[in-house]
Amino acid sequence: MNPLQHLVTQAQMDFLAAQDVAALENAKAQYLGKTGQISEQMKGLGKLPPEERKVQGALINAVKEQIETALNARRDALADAQMQARLNAEAIDVTLPGRGRGKGGIHPVMRSWERIEAIFRSIGFDVADGPEIENDWTNFTALNSPENHPARSMQDTFYIDGKDGLGKPLLLRTHTSPMQVRYARHHKTPIKVIAPGRTYRVDSDATHSPMFHQVEGLWIAEDISFADLKGVYLDFVKTFFETDDLQVRFRPSYFPFTEPSAEIDIAFGSGPLKGRWLEVSGAGQIHPTVLRNMNLDPEKYIGFAFGSGIERLTMLRYGINDLRLFYEGDLRFLKQFN
Ligand code: DAH
Repeated sequence: MNPLQHLVTQAQMDFLAAQDVAALENAKAQYLGKTGQISEQMKGLGKLPPEERKVQGALINAVKEQIETALNARRDALADAQMQARLNAEAIDVTLPGRGRGKGGIHPVMRSWERIEAIFRSIGFDVADGPEIENDWTNFTALNSPENHPARSMQDTFYIDGKDGLGKPLLLRTHTSPMQVRYARHHKTPIKVIAPGRTYRVDSDATHSPMFHQVEGLWIAEDISFADLKGVYLDFVKTFFETDDLQVRFRPSYFPFTEPSAEIDIAFGSGPLKGRWLEVSGAGQIHPTVLRNMNLDPEKYIGFAFGSGIERLTMLRYGINDLRLFYEGDLRFLKQFN
């Protein structure tokens, strides 16, 4: 083979062997670079007689063109391969089913909360909201809780760093009862309100959670009696549990902020809990000291209050036996309510 033709074959093979752009540029330099083989051939032309020089020059140029053609072909092939690799890497499998968008739902405790608001609104109660960080006076003192009451201790109450304006501790409210005082001090009588919300205690097991929900109820006027409490509460539980086949009883109890005080128990006439007395609320006639702290005259005003656990009501309504299920966020549990 003509040595120049051999050069073309050699270049084609080298170019084909180059697996990426950098290797191809190296190979190119050997043939078309300043000190490459084509340049070497050109340099040799000067030594030839003019006639041969012309022929040989044309030959070298033809060979150079062929090498350039091979180079460009390989460049294109490498670029194509690179593009193909990228397309493969970024390929989307359009036949995969989409992830979909899950529909959210209302948490069972919030469902109860909303139900409770609707029921009490329908019988003329206002709905009030209040602070979860409470001061010592409103959470305890105003509600006639003695200074040394165990509920104030570190075991029951989450205290907050910092003090209120009176230098007294701040805390996470341990019940919704402070809302009685807050609301009554800022509204005219008659007072008829519920205050649902979050409450906190240092407590955690199957029936206690450090954060839980209560609803406080309060009705104060000149003639509100225990009979009204019984009527309102019975009406509430019948509507909440969607049954008339239900009994209510008041069991004597003690709360510092009521006198007399009672626990309210209910018993269903049918269903899995049939016949068992189940505690659902604390309640009582508002203590004269509490009325005074509301800036109301206890000789003139009288009324009742109650405080019920919203988790407790929810557990009874749906037959849930472990409070912790409410806070674990397990969709297998939560989906059953939506
Ligand atoms: N605050 C009480 C508690 O957390 C519940 C309670 C009892 C509220 C009697 C009341 C009431 O308004 O009258 O245990």
